[in-house]
Amino acid sequence: MKTPLHVVILAAGKGRRMRSNLPKVLHLLAGRPLLSHVVAAACEIDPTRIHVVHGHRGDLLRKALGDSDIEWVEQKEQLGTGHALAQALPSIPDEALVMVLYGDVPLISPSTLRKAMAARDIDGARGIALVTLKVDDPHGYGRILRDDRGRLIKVIEEVDANEEQRGIREINTGILTASAGILRPRLQGDSAYPNAQGECYLTDILARAAADGYLVRTVSPKTTEEVLGVNDRVQLARLERFEQMRIAESLMRDGTGIADPARIDIRGRLRTGIDVFIDIDTVFEGEVVLEDGVRIGPGCVIKDATIGYETEIFAHSVIEGAEIGASCRIGPFARLRPNSRISHEARIGNFVEIKNGVLGRGAKANHLSYLGDARIGARANIGAGSITCNYDGANKHPTVIGDGAFVGSGVMLVAPITVHRGATIGAGSTITKDAPPDTLTLSRAPQRSLKSWRRKAPPEKGDPSLPEGFSDPDSRSGPDSGS
Ligand code: UD1
Ligand code: CA
Repeated sequence: MKTPLHVVILAAGKGRRMRSNLPKVLHLLAGRPLLSHVVAAACEIDPTRIHVVHGHRGDLLRKALGDSDIEWVEQKEQLGTGHALAQALPSIPDEALVMVLYGDVPLISPSTLRKAMAARDIDGARGIALVTLKVDDPHGYGRILRDDRGRLIKVIEEVDANEEQRGIREINTGILTASAGILRPRLQGDSAYPNAQGECYLTDILARAAADGYLVRTVSPKTTEEVLGVNDRVQLARLERFEQMRIAESLMRDGTGIADPARIDIRGRLRTGIDVFIDIDTVFEGEVVLEDGVRIGPGCVIKDATIGYETEIFAHSVIEGAEIGASCRIGPFARLRPNSRISHEARIGNFVEIKNGVLGRGAKANHLSYLGDARIGARANIGAGSITCNYDGANKHPTVIGDGAFVGSGVMLVAPITVHRGATIGAGSTITKDAPPDTLTLSRAPQRSLKSWRRKAPPEKGDPSLPEGFSDPDSRSGPDSGS
């Protein structure tokens, strides 16, 4: 029978150095809480159970992790990493293998965890494996002390280390695996009482086990970053850049062109076809799919969207909750809000906002429009400055525009309203009743020109220093506001 594997993630620390009201493990890395990165890595090694030891605001942790299958364990007082692990042990059987992970070490890779399990396996039930690493700057970490035969005898915390020990460059990542039967007795009774720092260190358990003749094997991770901890916001920002670079490189290897891998942020999952090109300063959130040949201009923010084959999104467009077909041209400065469905070959130009709208194949809204709760037919044209008046202050109402309809510029469509197929709406109209098909509909006040009217002369107070043709802006009203 396979040995049961229990992962225990320590996440109860207050994270004081973050200077935040939010529990440290809920701070985001690549758009997801630190803790959910660790849970994801744990899932990859196929554990029997994942336990998360939490402190204050455990409710927030549960909420953030949502439906993950986790055993939540409270550590009421933060008495150290050893004490934290001890809280989870009662529900873990002796014969189980325990893997200890840290909620603030988010980028740990499943391959390093597997390596640790394999190293422990060499010694069977008597083995402990610890992930350690030689670094240039060991500051802040526990140091690994070895005997003259190279065997690990102790991990010494920086605060407890003397000058010579502080010079040791091999550090403790904290990540370890051992059978529950080895850990349990060493976390109970006298040995579990707090030390001079008022804490029960998990690292002390290693020294006790080593003294009792257990062999502590060490393995090193593939990259340094995967075992770096997040203790403050500076370290968080560093890991964020590392993770973003890693994601960008993997996209580029899969055939996506990225103008500058240092200027793209993926806070969720981005899936791309081939020959996609992404320009600088772009942010992707949630689940985004870019099909083959899609081009994303600089400064775009795209969240939970699917963008079809060879569609081009021009600079500074903001897209959320939209499904966009093939060969569309969107932006610059377009805004697509949730529930927008844009069919193939549609064109959405600058300063056009669409919310809960369907745009038919080849339809166009090229300039300055608001289209909310609207269904717009194939090849329909929405003129510059035309909007749907969908909200009466209490309720939202739908607008339906048929195939091939032509809405001129500056039209107010007062919903609920239907503009039937092939209809033409004259520019500047306010449309309050349905417009019949294949007919010109317009509502305009008749134009008048008043021959007898004279514009008032401006007061004689011009600034002589201004060039000819210019007047003092304060002394008269502007050209359009006269009469
Ligand atoms: C710890 C290790 C140190 C190692 C470093 C690696 C100990 C005593 N020290 O130090 O050797 O080099 O990690 O990153 O183990 N936690 C609890 N309950 C507590 C205290 C901590 O759940 O009472 C959790 C924290 O939420 C955190 C983790 O344990 O996720 C580590 O605690 P932290 O205070 O960050 O320890 P370090 O000083 O980083
Ligand atoms: Ca830490």
